[in-house]
Amino acid sequence: QSRNLLAGKKVVITAGPTQERIDPVRYFTNHSSGKMGYAIAQAAKEQGAEVVLISGPTTLQVPDGIEVVHTISAQDMYEAVIKYFVHADIVIKSAAVADYRPKDTFLHKRKKQPGTWSVEMERTIDILKTIGEQKTTQLLVGFAAESENVEEYALSKLHSKNLDLIVANNILQEGAGFKGETNIIMTIAKDGRKKEYPVLSKIEAAKCIIEDIISYTKRQEHS
Ligand code: PMT
Repeated sequence: QSRNLLAGKKVVITAGPTQERIDPVRYFTNHSSGKMGYAIAQAAKEQGAEVVLISGPTTLQVPDGIEVVHTISAQDMYEAVIKYFVHADIVIKSAAVADYRPKDTFLHKRKKQPGTWSVEMERTIDILKTIGEQKTTQLLVGFAAESENVEEYALSKLHSKNLDLIVANNILQEGAGFKGETNIIMTIAKDGRKKEYPVLSKIEAAKCIIEDIISYTKRQEHS
């Protein structure tokens, strides 16, 4: 396998979930473990890239030689991504970012009360869409976590978020998606090149994603 194909490149990767606070005790989150994103960070580093990993709360150990920025909420992650995005060559967004957060948060623990409790939710910012609108020379890679019509929804995210490549996974498929050691991915590049992979360890899947990004940049250089 060739190495150092990303030497001199600055690669920003987001990983893991976000936590959206309700009060000092409670929050909304999702099942992301960060494994997929950390594996991508490792694969990019193995190709010689200078890697910044923007990570939501996970229990994973950070690989050596990778700069990590820890974030909690979608808003934190947005601020970190905006800061690092400007100088990045490649941005890969594998984090599972909350689309909604509680509209009101409480400074003190909300006490139990009789009856039900409704938490009103408001939209968070779409980080990927925002940087898709702002991008100049950066190559932008998004993920699509879908449970049906995977290819169709992934293509629609590729275009609506102005991406160069999208990695789709069906989170309901056995061996794919959140938490586990494996994933089943499909990559679709903006020029239409599509690749479907069998079940692979997240480490192997990450290598395939990095290879697909590299081959996309090569095609762009030659076109
Ligand atoms: O962490 P693991 O346990 O290993 O699991 C891996 C994974 C399932 C989390 C990963 O493979 C994956 O699919 N990540 C994307 C999860 C997701 O939020 O997908 P989405 O289809 O909802 O979002 C599409 C894209 O927009 C993603 O790149 C996401 O980072 C981005 N997004 C979404 C919402 C938002 N407010 N801002 C964003 O930037």
